Amino acid sequence: DKEIILMAIETSCDETSVAIVKNGREVLSNQIYSQIDIHQQFGGVVPEVASRNHLEKIPHIIEAALEESKVSYEDLDGIAVTYGPGLVGALLVGLSTAKAIAYGLHIPLIGVHHIDGHIAANYIEDPHLEPPFVCLVASGGHSHLVYVKDYGEYEVLGRTRDDAAGEAFDKIARALKLGYPGGPLIDQKAKEGNSHAIEFPRSYLEGDSYDFSFSGLKSSVLNYLNSCKMKGKEIVVEDVAASFQQAVVEVLANKTIKAALEKKVDKVCLAGGVAANSALRRAMKDLAGKNGLELGYPSPILCTDNAAMIGAAGYYQYRQGNLKDLYLNAVPNLPL
Ligand code: KG4
Ligand code: ZN
Repeated sequence: DKEIILMAIETSCDETSVAIVKNGREVLSNQIYSQIDIHQQFGGVVPEVASRNHLEKIPHIIEAALEESKVSYEDLDGIAVTYGPGLVGALLVGLSTAKAIAYGLHIPLIGVHHIDGHIAANYIEDPHLEPPFVCLVASGGHSHLVYVKDYGEYEVLGRTRDDAAGEAFDKIARALKLGYPGGPLIDQKAKEGNSHAIEFPRSYLEGDSYDFSFSGLKSSVLNYLNSCKMKGKEIVVEDVAASFQQAVVEVLANKTIKAALEKKVDKVCLAGGVAANSALRRAMKDLAGKNGLELGYPSPILCTDNAAMIGAAGYYQYRQGNLKDLYLNAVPNLPL
């Protein structure tokens, strides 16, 4: 088989990332410029600011990726790009750039769904991983429980009905005045706290549902903080962080394992920013082990937004001949 070298671009939120990926699994470069420092002062991502920064940075990130990978434009077999879901202005920067390169070099354009990318990060991490498996995708924008039947072929078993898991982490971190993004900060604080200190609710919804809901938990934590303040009771941030995290992790892990058993797969995977959470990884290891399931998760840098994962997902579409033309538009709410 001929070697396939793809350039991949990801600009759906606040990371400007360009990667060079060989045969879908070998990352020759994965350049990531994070705008976190810029958005931190606002306590969250400001869409217009994100677009402007993508535009400023992307030419330099492309150069850096080509230089690190020692790949030149002539070596590229195609260009993969995230075209949704995400912030429309941010997506358009990556998409327009990808179209220009595809047009200029006469190479195929591959449109990638952002979540398809998150799932495919697992193929990079484990070169032997093959579908079928069940994957929990938990990030700042999404909480999806997905049955991966084949490459790029999905059945969404459940999704969040309100906040995404990462969004809940970010909101509680803000209430605890820990900063942004909140996930990693809560993860850190929780290590010094007692996860049984406060009984927060676990929302499983109707008996057999694989959907998630985190808004009740969020309200319960906020109510707890308010009542402490009113009663003049001391707030132990570490205990609140650990107890909240435990409530999120238990539901995510239990539903993922239940789905894997129902679908009769022998592997489960994690994906998305929240997959970097140390308590979630621990809970999943424990439960997967007890149920005889194999567990995979990407290293933290491949969990949060990056272009290498888009190159991995794009490779399988390229092989299936699933290409796009230059009329491809950004789709902010693209369904999986
Ligand atoms: O996948 P990602 O980079 O962007 C989206 O597509 O949304 O995910 C970012 C989210 C943020 O909400 C962040 O707080 C969360 O992932 N996150 C974590 C951890 N690291 C990142 N949540 C919990 N624990 C972590 N260690
Ligand atoms: Zn993401």
